[in-house]
Amino acid sequence: DAADPCVMVIFGGTGDLTHRKLMPALYNLQHEKRLPKHFAVVAVGRRNKDHETYRYEVYDSIKNYARFKLHEHTWSELRRRIYYQKFDFNNDIGYIRLNTFLQKLDEQYRTRGNRIYYLAVAPEYFAVIVEKLYLHGMARNSGSWQRLVIEKPFGRDLDSARQLNEKITAVFDESNIYRIDHYLGKEMLQNIMVIRFANMLFEPVWNNRFIDNIQILSCEKVGVGSRGGYYEQAGALRDMLQNHMLQLLTLTAIEPPAGLDTKSIRDEKVKVLRSLEQFTPELVEQNVVRGQYGPGIVDNEEVPGYRQEERVSPTSNTETFIALKAHIDNLRWAGVPFYIRTGKRMPVKTTEIIIQFKPLPKILYAREYGHLQPNILIIKIQPREGVFFQFNAKKPGTECNIVPVQMDYCQNCREGVNSPAAYERLLFDVMRGESTLFARWDEVEYAWKFVDNIAAAWQTRQPGFPNYPAGSWGPREAAALLAGDNRNRLYKG
Ligand code: BG6
Repeated sequence: DAADPCVMVIFGGTGDLTHRKLMPALYNLQHEKRLPKHFAVVAVGRRNKDHETYRYEVYDSIKNYARFKLHEHTWSELRRRIYYQKFDFNNDIGYIRLNTFLQKLDEQYRTRGNRIYYLAVAPEYFAVIVEKLYLHGMARNSGSWQRLVIEKPFGRDLDSARQLNEKITAVFDESNIYRIDHYLGKEMLQNIMVIRFANMLFEPVWNNRFIDNIQILSCEKVGVGSRGGYYEQAGALRDMLQNHMLQLLTLTAIEPPAGLDTKSIRDEKVKVLRSLEQFTPELVEQNVVRGQYGPGIVDNEEVPGYRQEERVSPTSNTETFIALKAHIDNLRWAGVPFYIRTGKRMPVKTTEIIIQFKPLPKILYAREYGHLQPNILIIKIQPREGVFFQFNAKKPGTECNIVPVQMDYCQNCREGVNSPAAYERLLFDVMRGESTLFARWDEVEYAWKFVDNIAAAWQTRQPGFPNYPAGSWGPREAAALLAGDNRNRLYKG
């Protein structure tokens, strides 16, 4: 499908996300000739600057962050379609002026009144912007479409998420709301379903009869950097688990959908989230480990602890790490633990889904030769994209020695493979009205329900932070979650 003519308005046009992700994504789309022919983008922000100054800044961002090398010709095609407007999100006059400007662009670019409103702003502005768009007749116009793209965090718990949702659905129809979870735009996330449902080999064994446990990890080397102000309110629970980690879990565990259409896929995703075993305070105590990094060494460099970071309280109890053991209470997954782990300031940057198969019955080789390694399938999300499979084979020689061997398919190791960045795919999807890779309200709702139980249990207990040094695999208790279950420890902890 081609992208429709439209004007995209980015609220928060001078922010980090716009410069690092959105503008480079538009450039990449321009490079691939996938931007609509009739298209313009208006960045709005509180600072005063003219179009030219803004374009100049965008030029720098594209040079630094775009996937394709900056080409003057491609840039000039995008450049002239970029505009900047100074704007105060609370001020009605600004909306009136913006609307007039957008109507002018509609004529100039023949964009028919179609709009993408991208909210790349602090969450406290989400509701007010939406309300004002409505008040000024910019949101629900017949004969054209208006789509709302909303960044995370979508609320900070179920209640606040519900309130926000009520406000935005009072203005935009659910079908025009695109809740971003940028993990869904990653190449390998789409591949999870392809691997499962486009092979005869995997689906028949994708259940509790054959799978022993599933480990989902997303480790980062970076700390919170300059985002301390935001992160203090979020922590790993809200920043990573509520959205990205639960999306990974959902796609891994999903039942085959009735079709590949948006509704069928989302319906199945919601079923997984609804089947998640809900944590009681006792289960949180047993199955959830939180951590916060102290000073340590990453890549041979000394780095400060979380409490020493910019805009972080020196007595902060915000978690920068979470590990947990979850269960999905349905027939496919009953009894299979899903170990989830995510944290900042870990030794490597990696996101993977590790599927460990059950041990063989103690007959034949397993009886003769003792312990055999289990089969392991790893879906590698990033930085390497690919699939790894471990199985047992005979070591060449006159004796029968059985050793685990590996097949390792790396999709982005080959020369010339350059997977689209997540935001590129997601923006393109918004332009063509394809919302499969965005979170429907009920997905967000059930994710918060799960997360709220953990947050509530944590409130009643003080953590002993910091409890892992930067550059380590997290607190000892996290490794114990796996080891305590006698599960193979694939990752050092
Ligand atoms: C963001 C979080 O959503 O995801 C960040 O707010 C985190 O804290 C980032 O660093 C990780 O994304 P990626 O694509 O680098 O794995």
